[in-house]
Amino acid sequence: MDILIERADGVLSIVLNRPDKKNAITAAMYQEMADGLYEAEKDPTVRVTLLRANGSAFSAGNDLDDFLNDPPKGLDAPVFQFLRRISAFPKPIVAAVPGVAVGIGTTMLLHCDMVYAASTAKFSLPFAQLGLCPEAASSLLLPRTAGYQRAAEKLLTGEAFDVNEAIAMGFVNGALEASELDAYVQNKAKKLAALPASSLRVTKALMKRSQSSEVTARMETEAEQFAQMLIAPEAREAFQAFFEKRKPDFTRFE
Ligand code: COA
Repeated sequence: MDILIERADGVLSIVLNRPDKKNAITAAMYQEMADGLYEAEKDPTVRVTLLRANGSAFSAGNDLDDFLNDPPKGLDAPVFQFLRRISAFPKPIVAAVPGVAVGIGTTMLLHCDMVYAASTAKFSLPFAQLGLCPEAASSLLLPRTAGYQRAAEKLLTGEAFDVNEAIAMGFVNGALEASELDAYVQNKAKKLAALPASSLRVTKALMKRSQSSEVTARMETEAEQFAQMLIAPEAREAFQAFFEKRKPDFTRFE
């Protein structure tokens, strides 16, 4: 199973479990993650959600074979269901990033309440490198969190950055030794789960209130652009180049 759902002590964990493919996320996995969040939202015994990954990577982002052969169609596609659920999720979400986090592997973190990463973790947003544009409202949230120029550098160049920069940009809370990460976040989630659920819910809702409709609107605008760019020749060239283990050649496109 590529996504595991685990429950303990009021914490529901959604675990990316496709380590041989660096936890690249397929449509089926987005659907399971969206369903897991729905279950966590509706079940009153779940106080906190933990997002983590098995293996050395957090996620290599969207599965590129899916992008090439079965791109998301319409706003009901599993990826957009997942993004809507995580962005509007009413209970605390804690995330643990053990290694590389690419594309949506990074942008989904902008919707988590607390993010901890291994000191060796690496982040990247290679949308332009793939002929795509930002998603998950990252074109709104990253400039807001990190400042415009820093967000522009990451979103326009797609260059990878380390955990210290992610902390400075404001979307990672802290860095830990990889071997200590899981125990640390489990403990954090357990502590939150012991607090009054209503206080957590109201506090989160108050913090998110001013931007929730903006986030929804931006995700829709991005999704429309993204869907068009996914089937354009620039992106097809980038995906094919990845699987052929060569550099993409964009020189023939204007
Ligand atoms: N989609 C599909 N398969 C992927 C993938 C993705 N996004 N990322 C990695 N894989 C697969 C590789 O094809 C490889 O499969 P194979 O063993 O059958 O050849 C396996 O996962 C391991 O990947 P590899 O590239 O050998 O690992 P690495 O440690 O050298 O590099 C990454 C890890 C994440 C830096 C690199 O795999 C990468 O750049 N992936 C693409 C990321 C991306 O562009 N995502 C989309 C963002 S919008």
